[in-house]
Amino acid sequence: MKILFATSEVHPLIKTGGLADVSGSLPIALKTLGHDIRILLPAYSSVLEKITHKKIICRIKLAGYPEEINILEYTLPNTTLIVYLVDAPTYFNRPGKPYTTPDGYDWIDNADRFTLFSKIAATIALNQTQIEWQPDIVHANDWQTGLIPALLATEESRPGTLFTIHNLAYQGLYSYDTFKHLNLPQHLWSMHSMEFHGQLSFIKGGLTLADKITTVSPTYAREIKTSEYGYGLQKLLRQRSVDLTGIINGVDYSIWNPEDDPHIKHNYSHDNLENKVLNKRAIQQHFNLPETDVPMLSFIGRLVDQKGVNLILHALPKLLESPVQIVLLGSGDLYYEEELNKIKQQAPDKLALLIGYDEELAHLIQAGSDMLLMPSKYEPCGLNQLYSLKYGTIPIVRRTGGLVDTVIDTSPRSIKHNTATGFIFDESDHRSLTAIILKANHYYTDKKDVWNQLIINAMKQDYSWEISAIEYVDLYEQALIF
Ligand code: ADP
Ligand code: GLC
Repeated sequence: MKILFATSEVHPLIKTGGLADVSGSLPIALKTLGHDIRILLPAYSSVLEKITHKKIICRIKLAGYPEEINILEYTLPNTTLIVYLVDAPTYFNRPGKPYTTPDGYDWIDNADRFTLFSKIAATIALNQTQIEWQPDIVHANDWQTGLIPALLATEESRPGTLFTIHNLAYQGLYSYDTFKHLNLPQHLWSMHSMEFHGQLSFIKGGLTLADKITTVSPTYAREIKTSEYGYGLQKLLRQRSVDLTGIINGVDYSIWNPEDDPHIKHNYSHDNLENKVLNKRAIQQHFNLPETDVPMLSFIGRLVDQKGVNLILHALPKLLESPVQIVLLGSGDLYYEEELNKIKQQAPDKLALLIGYDEELAHLIQAGSDMLLMPSKYEPCGLNQLYSLKYGTIPIVRRTGGLVDTVIDTSPRSIKHNTATGFIFDESDHRSLTAIILKANHYYTDKKDVWNQLIINAMKQDYSWEISAIEYVDLYEQALIF
């Protein structure tokens, strides 16, 4: 099968979160299964800076745009995976991040930027370029690509379309004026298409008009059909139930494996866990924490409401009264950054905080910590808990989304059957989080045999892409329409 995989992030070229990890690994798994998959990505300036050996494969002239747009071809390092880069300097060649300015505000022209990207995707999908390659399937991801299935829906000889929701909270909502200014077909302004309560909703393009819809875990697929998690789109998602599937994300174990991770000095497996402790020492040295054996709990991620940072913030004062070390790596809302900083000043020997983005440190923290905190309010899949399982770092998670599908709570029964891999709490409040952490600490300190078994159970989990990639292929086959 020929697949065009349209995405706004791909690891290792550009990453703000898990979408990049998925875009950098699922296509490789599909390629291994024998499919001709090619990625389409905007040529952000930071991407252009990173790459060598690119070539212009074609130029595309879109109606209504003054300049031709170059499509660059690049092969991802150590793979045969082709990435087509949409080189439209006015839209993508600028400092800052993919969606935000250097000071953290949304780019004012995001609607224009991802409309251009989607129009290019549709042009390639319809084989109207000199690439002379027509995909059988276009796989679009998140709101930035929601327009693609909508643009294709009315075309004859079009590929089948699949739209993956990585996060329903980000929808790409814009005014009617913006819709007019984008010069999109008028029929898209309809409640059966992309109009949503008087606004243009990019994500609705995918939700209403893609042939198939997926999200990144079976539990999140159920949750988004309820008012609690559906952001007003639950009714539409219920109507599309037969076309909506939850497929759990996989992990690229060539990047996330403690046995040969190049970012950590002391590689280990469940046979030599002494080395895991050496990584804990490395974290303590890095952050100037005392080199003791108290439980080390960590958080890595975006400092936003979704991730339950509020719960961590309010749980910290009580937790810091007990013998623990807490390590936090993340960036996001200024409020959280400042509040966490204040608490850090009060407990510098127990709390380590790095505001920022540091890939190498993320690997070391996964390796050296005893537990990973993911008290998310909602979590479509979550990749950090999957990485932590592999590193024998016990995840403490809230019972939501992909966290439920990947972590098995510690109970007398799961201990007896050697299936326990983590700790799950229910209520999204800081008291429940504190209580579950104290329970986990109790196992860590007083029930070492159970704790060691948890580590072994966790490290044996296999979330490689093979199984999930086959599920995508099944859906592609169902979406094939010609
Ligand atoms: P989300 O996509 O919602 O942010 P995921 O758990 O799916 O959450 O994926 C987050 C990814 O981003 C992981 O690979 C994680 O290690 C990485 N990450 C998040 N914040 C940071 C950070 N501050 N430094 C390094 N890596 C980070
Ligand atoms: C989103 C979700 C996260 C998921 C990731 C990759 O960013 O928040 O739960 O793991 O996409 O699918």
